Amino acid sequence: MVDMHTKMADKSLFFYPGSKRVMYWYILKYIIPNKNNFIYYHSNKYSNFYDLFTGSAFLSINSNCKNIYANDINPSLIDLFQTLQTNPIDLLKFVKILCDEYLECNDRDKAKQYYRNIKQEFNARLTSKDRIPYYLFLLLNSFKGFIDFRADGQVSGQPSFHWSNRENPRFRDKQQHIEFIDTKIERIENIVINQPDFENINFTCKEFNDIEIKQDSLVFLDPPYHETILSYFNKDKDEEFQMQVFNKAKEIHDSGSHFIATNYSTSFIMDLYQKFNPVIINSYNKNNNFNKEEMFCSNIPELHHHIF
Ligand SMILES: C[S@@+](CC[C@H](N)C(=O)[O-])C[C@H]1O[C@@H](n2cnc3c(N)ncnc32)[C@H](O)[C@@H]1O
Repeated sequence: MVDMHTKMADKSLFFYPGSKRVMYWYILKYIIPNKNNFIYYHSNKYSNFYDLFTGSAFLSINSNCKNIYANDINPSLIDLFQTLQTNPIDLLKFVKILCDEYLECNDRDKAKQYYRNIKQEFNARLTSKDRIPYYLFLLLNSFKGFIDFRADGQVSGQPSFHWSNRENPRFRDKQQHIEFIDTKIERIENIVINQPDFENINFTCKEFNDIEIKQDSLVFLDPPYHETILSYFNKDKDEEFQMQVFNKAKEIHDSGSHFIATNYSTSFIMDLYQKFNPVIINSYNKNNNFNKEEMFCSNIPELHHHIF
């Protein structure tokens, strides 16, 4: 039997913007102290677990359910997960070669150029699964996993710290950077190769609203948050999108299933979810000293009893 705590702590594939890792710790520590892994604990009570905005798949990987459905609109992400399910060894071997070459660059300009070359390799293969090793390289080596997709599907992004950057050091020396990358690759290997539940996750690449939710389901709704990326383009579009997500939550509730929704706790979001008694949680991110106020909302009766 897998220990719930270990399962959660080790199960994060890579940094990803909005990954639920930070909030998770908060919930575990302060809200439900006796339940080391609340997704593991709750998802087990349903026939289906849906992670409609799966991102790094952190929630799906940490769930414990017979049928897990992980969806994201980003095709590179879904192609990556599917490749990790079908051919992880070759993929990781190739990514390791790319990382080794990157770590061989012994000055900052060379490292930056190598990173730029990888972006070009990715962008030159947009419609092909051959782009996936380059995508994983970028996820592992971009600043906090932030990789922006332009409207044409091409990537932009900034490299993370490199050992050769002595002005703003993150690594003591080259060896420390090598160990850092090795640990990341080993962690992926551990999840996708050694733990059989990973290959049972059903990954899909759809608009979240097009996913039909079966009876007896727990659905996690972790969309791009209000007033972040979307609102950068257009406020009305952002609010319209957040309302669609809320309507999905309502539809799930009305059908007798359960949902968990997270977002920023802006007044718009708090008003939208009002009927489900949302709570504000202040999840402190020790990595960047960033205090975030987030909304956590669910119609799971037991969770209500613990939190509200
Ligand atoms: C906040 S992130 C999810 C993070 C994830 N829960 C984790 O722990 O890593 C939001 C995700 O929603 C995806 N997304 C954005 N719009 C979407 C849509 N209309 N349908 C499905 N997925 C969407 C994005 O590609 C992104 O990966």
